[in-house]
Amino acid sequence: MAVDVLLGLQWGDEGKGKIVDLLAPKYDVVARFQGGPNAGHTLEFDGIKHVLHQIPSGIFRENIKNYIGNGVIIDPIIFSEEIRKLKELGLSDLNNLYISNKAHIIIPTHKMLDAAYEEAKGAGKIGSTLRGIGPTYQDKIARTGLRIGDTLTDKFYEKYQNLKSWHIHLLDSLGYDYSKLSDWEESFFTAVEELRGLKIINGEYFIEENIHAGKKILAEGAQGSHLDIDFGTYPYVTSSNTTVAGACTGLGVAPKYIKDVFGVFKAYCTRVGSGPFPTELFGAEGEELRKAGNEFGATTGRPRRCGWLDLPSLRHSVFLNGVTKLYITKSDILDELGTINVCTDYELNDGSITGQVPYDMTDIKEMKLKAFEGWNKTLLDHENYGALPSNFRDYIDFIEGYLKTPIAMVSLGPGRLENIDKPLAVV
Ligand code: GDP
Ligand code: IMO
Ligand code: MG
Repeated sequence: MAVDVLLGLQWGDEGKGKIVDLLAPKYDVVARFQGGPNAGHTLEFDGIKHVLHQIPSGIFRENIKNYIGNGVIIDPIIFSEEIRKLKELGLSDLNNLYISNKAHIIIPTHKMLDAAYEEAKGAGKIGSTLRGIGPTYQDKIARTGLRIGDTLTDKFYEKYQNLKSWHIHLLDSLGYDYSKLSDWEESFFTAVEELRGLKIINGEYFIEENIHAGKKILAEGAQGSHLDIDFGTYPYVTSSNTTVAGACTGLGVAPKYIKDVFGVFKAYCTRVGSGPFPTELFGAEGEELRKAGNEFGATTGRPRRCGWLDLPSLRHSVFLNGVTKLYITKSDILDELGTINVCTDYELNDGSITGQVPYDMTDIKEMKLKAFEGWNKTLLDHENYGALPSNFRDYIDFIEGYLKTPIAMVSLGPGRLENIDKPLAVV
């Protein structure tokens, strides 16, 4: 079996980019399987901080193929900007970048529709990144979308015009001002030209060839399981399957080829945008975590909402994905806290106590919290896992025991070297 999947277990921004970059040298191919430019995956090394939106996080490693699967949606304008930045960093050899001809394209009116729908929702808005994600996946499912393969045909312009006309009709009915459209279209068509010059392939055969040649593939997820269209906090979710099944449909990988599933989670929780967040901290406490963790969106710069680790929700993600190994990030952000809480159960409005995520999270009346004494020292500069403060190891043991899944590594900073491997526990 040749495919491992790495995905986020919370509301995104768990540190997936950092961990993919770290694991990439063990693989031949790194493949993004869903989402689009709503993602912001941060990589830090050699004094460079780089945020990737659509390009897989294996791009900085040598001799690795990076593949954008059919489940991803691509904004050519943002894509061309990403390529430009990579070239600026001296990474001009993009021969290792492959794009599925079946990935759908975000056109300028998709972004306008995203904004128009959000405006129309008023207080009930999703808090979308406004990158056109919902409307583009909507067109995919409605069978009206445009795909990367279309850009290579002489029907592309006609198909584009048809889709645009339909969108204009919708924008008119929503009273949305689209006067900037022609400016956006100019950049769009220039970017499409650039895209055409890249390696656009019949991607499922690329995956098949690599699997049959015994190559190792790492499938990189975007967003997180609580944002999954089916299992997340609907309707406050994204429009794709962020859970492991998304890797099958988003790349053309049959389940029998999937081996390990790596689940990445933060030592606390964050969420950008609207929707329920049971363990959210408000006021000074929330502010303290946001400041310590520099919790501002990598894509939109919006402040992230912060709160304690929510174990019932995390357990939900672990079993939905069949996680085999866990990666915990940002424990270093908790270094100076006197007390660290984790939520172990929810008390519902009817008085019952449950470890299951309810259909409607507003049914949660109260959180059952377990308090841990802080370790009050830096976690970096320890030689090995056993040398870390016992208060920290108690925290980790409890999480591992609760999730019945081993933690393979603790990440203690944004850099490539700021990690400590953890001996795999039998749980
Ligand atoms: P992603 O979307 O899951 O790839 O995560 P983001 O890049 O949006 O957000 C994670 C942020 O935390 C980035 O700024 C990372 O550089 C940073 N980061 C990742 N792991 C750690 C860690 O262990 N400690 C600290 N302090 N920062 C980390
Ligand atoms: P990465 O891959 C965090 C959130 C948005 C919004 C909701 C729907 O960096 O972890 P959308 O634009 O998809 O229609 O927005 O999902 N969201 C993310 N939050 N990290 C992300 O990606 C996200 N991608 C979307 O904030 O609440
Ligand atoms: Mg992110």
